[in-house]
Amino acid sequence: MKRMLEGCRGFFNLTDEEKSMYNGKHVLDPIRCGSGFNASVDELYFWRDHLKVIVHPDFHSPNKPTGFSNVLQEYTKAVRDVVRGLLEGISENLGLESCYINRALDLESSLQILIANLYPPCPQPELAMGLPSHSDHGLLTMLIENGISGLQIQHKGKWVNVNAAPGAFLVNTGDHVEILSNGKYGSVLHRAVVNDKTTRMSISVSNGPSPETIVSPVQELLENGSCPAAYIGMKYKDYLELQQSNKLDGNSCLNRVRI
Ligand code: OGA
Ligand code: NI
Repeated sequence: MKRMLEGCRGFFNLTDEEKSMYNGKHVLDPIRCGSGFNASVDELYFWRDHLKVIVHPDFHSPNKPTGFSNVLQEYTKAVRDVVRGLLEGISENLGLESCYINRALDLESSLQILIANLYPPCPQPELAMGLPSHSDHGLLTMLIENGISGLQIQHKGKWVNVNAAPGAFLVNTGDHVEILSNGKYGSVLHRAVVNDKTTRMSISVSNGPSPETIVSPVQELLENGSCPAAYIGMKYKDYLELQQSNKLDGNSCLNRVRI
């Protein structure tokens, strides 16, 4: 965790020129960095720099800072192992075989994306937002931070601060756990606020199905629970493109697949 935080900080400290080769625009460009959330469509800019790297099924990495690529590879592999274990638990909790989700969503080819976020001190934090309200598109997001809080989740209509224990992993359930569990697991709306004192850094790793998997509610759950499917099936890759093509106005992309 420490080496990842150092490596990402090293990347943000590169010159604009060194970073400029990663100013990609498409959601599936393997390495992208810049400011703002949907950099290409939002008129509003947010108080954040970011780096996004697709690390699985094909591994990519910026070649600077030195040694970053090795840390990134080791860290994201370890995260995949933890996520696999958590999804086994979730499968069992849904009354399915423990390997159900890992097999059905082809996790061998899972789409895994690293997102490093840098939130510098903001002179008027009440007028800015680090990251606007959103839900994560994947199955589980594993997030760490540099000891500075800022993440909030929406709970019963209110924004609640998440004050993580030092060194903890924050695990966020994403849209595709909600879809496949037919709503038994909710995808959590969250956002990041900024402060006027300290630079905050967070590193989130989004862990999704394979890009080609069509995800719909698990058939066994519909039969056992005798409740109808609440979501249409959609290829994960298409969902990603749909999510990134819309302005994020606080609404979840889930509304587009809800029946
Ligand atoms: C994200 C995210 C929150 C944070 O990267 O998807 O929600 O605390 N980050 O930076
Ligand atoms: Ni998020």
